[in-house]
Amino acid sequence: MSRILTGIQSSGVPHLGNILGAIIPAVELSKTFESFFFIADLHAITTVKDATDLKQNTLATAAAWLAFGLDTNTNILYRQSDIPQVTELMWYLNCITPYPMLANAHSFKDKSNKLSDVNAGLFTYPVLMAADIILYNANIVPVGKDQLQHLEITRDIARSFNNIFGETFIIPEAITQENHMIIPGTDGKKMSKSYNNYINILGPEKVLKKQIMSIVTDSKGLEEPKDPNGCHIFQLYKLIGNKDQIQDLNNNYINGGFGYGHAKNELLNLILSKYKTPRLKFDELMRNPQKIEDELQKGSEKAKEIANSVLKKVKTNLGLM
Ligand code: ADP
Ligand code: TRP
Repeated sequence: MSRILTGIQSSGVPHLGNILGAIIPAVELSKTFESFFFIADLHAITTVKDATDLKQNTLATAAAWLAFGLDTNTNILYRQSDIPQVTELMWYLNCITPYPMLANAHSFKDKSNKLSDVNAGLFTYPVLMAADIILYNANIVPVGKDQLQHLEITRDIARSFNNIFGETFIIPEAITQENHMIIPGTDGKKMSKSYNNYINILGPEKVLKKQIMSIVTDSKGLEEPKDPNGCHIFQLYKLIGNKDQIQDLNNNYINGGFGYGHAKNELLNLILSKYKTPRLKFDELMRNPQKIEDELQKGSEKAKEIANSVLKKVKTNLGLM
């Protein structure tokens, strides 16, 4: 049986892009395949340097998986740093990873024009990611297209370990959704924490409203007919609404007498009604962080068992045991 594994960094509160692009499709897969989902807090500290932020983001990321229906009785949700075996494995993998492979990784290369900003953790980021995957014998790793190079590095490292020290690791496969949607942000560019153009559908209503009201539009007046397809509000509405709702909004745009403020209100109301249950669940969990902790502890117990057995084999094959 295939084992699915993926991680999301706790570098912010999951936004609409993360939820539609990663969390919801992964929760769907977890209904068919045994799944390991984790909060990559060790990767997050390559950039997050505030303890309160990291803690809150880790809880919020876990709460988002749970709020969107991840069943932790049949799947495993854990915090990366709760299983320190992963950093031990990373060291072993570091010792067989060629320097040029890491120097070519986008995660490093994109920042290499200002080397003083690059910490060693960022440089070896792909090795920790390889350890994340092969420590749990994962076969399938759903990721966004930006992570495919990291998966190639993982496969190279695993193969090379197997060649040098004998069969030890499963070679994982990446899967990307062919029709992977890139969710646009409030300015029409890819929604991202780093562009500050995100919509936090799990956040307080007031903040959500402010984010929606900040969606950039042209300056057509209320009375004028408008082109729905050229409008960021409509693009977002289309990703969430049902056929009838989309058709109704489309007609309002074309007919005129319907301003962008009205369209933003429609989007806000749609988000509030469509995500009512996950929003309530998320709030309830964030008010009771111990519940989230308990879920993470339950997940890490199971993850640890597998990690220990794989690590034992690794150490034996390396001659450390
Ligand atoms: P961010 O760009 O906000 O930092 P991450 O790179 O941490 O987001 O992405 C975490 C997951 O969410 C990845 O699987 C990524 O593919 C997915 N994701 C992020 N932004 C979007 C988006 N705008 N559209 C679709 N998927 C997204
Ligand atoms: N680097 C991934 C991202 O930024 C997160 C991640 C860390 C991950 N370890 C992983 C994803 C292992 C899949 C498998 O999106």
